[in-house]
Amino acid sequence: MEAAQRVHKGLEGVYVLESSLCLIDTEHGKLYYVGYDVEELAEKSSYEEVSYLLLNGRLPRRSEFEAFLTKLRSEMELTPEEKRDVQYAAKRTGPMDALAAFYLFASKDPPQAKDQMEHAIKAVAKAGSVLGNTIRVQRGEEPIESQPELGIAGNLIYLVTSKRPEQYQVEFLDDILILHAEHGVPASTFGAVVTASTLSDVYSSIVTGLMTLKGPLHGGAAEAAYYQFVEIGDPDRVESWLERTLAEKRRVMGFGHRVYKIYDPRAKYVKAMAARAAELAGGRVKTLYEIAVRLEQAAIEKLSSRGLFPNVDFWTPIVYTAIGIPPGYFTAVFAVSRVVGWVAHVLEYWKDNRLIRPLHLYTGPEPGQRYVPIEARG
Ligand code: SDX
Repeated sequence: MEAAQRVHKGLEGVYVLESSLCLIDTEHGKLYYVGYDVEELAEKSSYEEVSYLLLNGRLPRRSEFEAFLTKLRSEMELTPEEKRDVQYAAKRTGPMDALAAFYLFASKDPPQAKDQMEHAIKAVAKAGSVLGNTIRVQRGEEPIESQPELGIAGNLIYLVTSKRPEQYQVEFLDDILILHAEHGVPASTFGAVVTASTLSDVYSSIVTGLMTLKGPLHGGAAEAAYYQFVEIGDPDRVESWLERTLAEKRRVMGFGHRVYKIYDPRAKYVKAMAARAAELAGGRVKTLYEIAVRLEQAAIEKLSSRGLFPNVDFWTPIVYTAIGIPPGYFTAVFAVSRVVGWVAHVLEYWKDNRLIRPLHLYTGPEPGQRYVPIEARG
């Protein structure tokens, strides 16, 4: 078989586009957004400022950031029609699908090419308000007004808890939103770009991203990791659980990564947050954390020789629980963050658009099969 004809299953190791948005340094276990170390961005920046960075390719001057914040905050409020859309979808489907429904409704008037950045900013601004009100409706409550001055992280916590959030909760969620904002072309981002490459619109690209992120091998892992901690139930049961799990060829959720074969730098940062969350929240958060610590240690012992280490989804369940985010919504919080990565890649790809249309290697029957009428087929 010609080398050019070899199939790269799962596109493993294949470069499908050029991008300046992030660098994943797998050798040193570092992640950079437009050259900035994400750990420094998590410590010193905000999700809003990182969104500006990803959408514009540089950090804003003060006046630019203030204008950007004003625009974002003006869009964080849901219009009465948007609230009705959220209520309709939230009553009929899960959180990821409800987010997708919102963007489907938004794409009914596809934006003109010249307005795509405006719509990208609007899409980023709306995500947290849509999710927060989706959680309310699915708990039997009414949607409420957003509090834009709390920022995207603070407003999401406010909508979920109906209370002004503690400062540590806002910091935790803002850091998590920063750490999940962009990661090159994982399945969901690649899907969003495939949709954009046909010159569909930015909202439709987000719908593709959402429906792809939903899978347990991708964005669904944090929720699965939470339930594995619950299933273990006690730190002293970790080793026996792990033995059984690996013997049954099941996977440790929140472990392993297609690109990182060492500790995911985001996971390292979230682990420190989880330790603080366990101290601050105590109770079952502390128990979950203790289970996670034992499981990390035992699983690294068993799996690290195969390049399997914790990824970003291993520690987030502890922090989400401390913030008051229910496990069924962990993936949707990831999505709220990644909306900016999806739209940033779409806008970047459109600068030099090329329809994405790979080939398939034919393995079917010899062409020219003779058609036999059904009566004669026995
Ligand atoms: C995200 O790509 C991104 O950037 C994604 C992401 C982002 O920011 O967008 O980082 C977010 O998706 C993080 C990944 C979250 N998913 C999980 O935690 C689910 C559990 N992990 C996996 O299923 C797995 O590690 C993947 C899917 C993440 C990556 O798998 P690969 O690269 O396709 O590797 P593979 O499935 O071919 O596994 C290689 C071997 C297999 O063993 P063998 O069949 O060769 O004997 O490693 C084993 C696997 O069974 N393996 C695991 C394992 N992950 C892989 N064994 C136990 N536990 C695991 N978690």
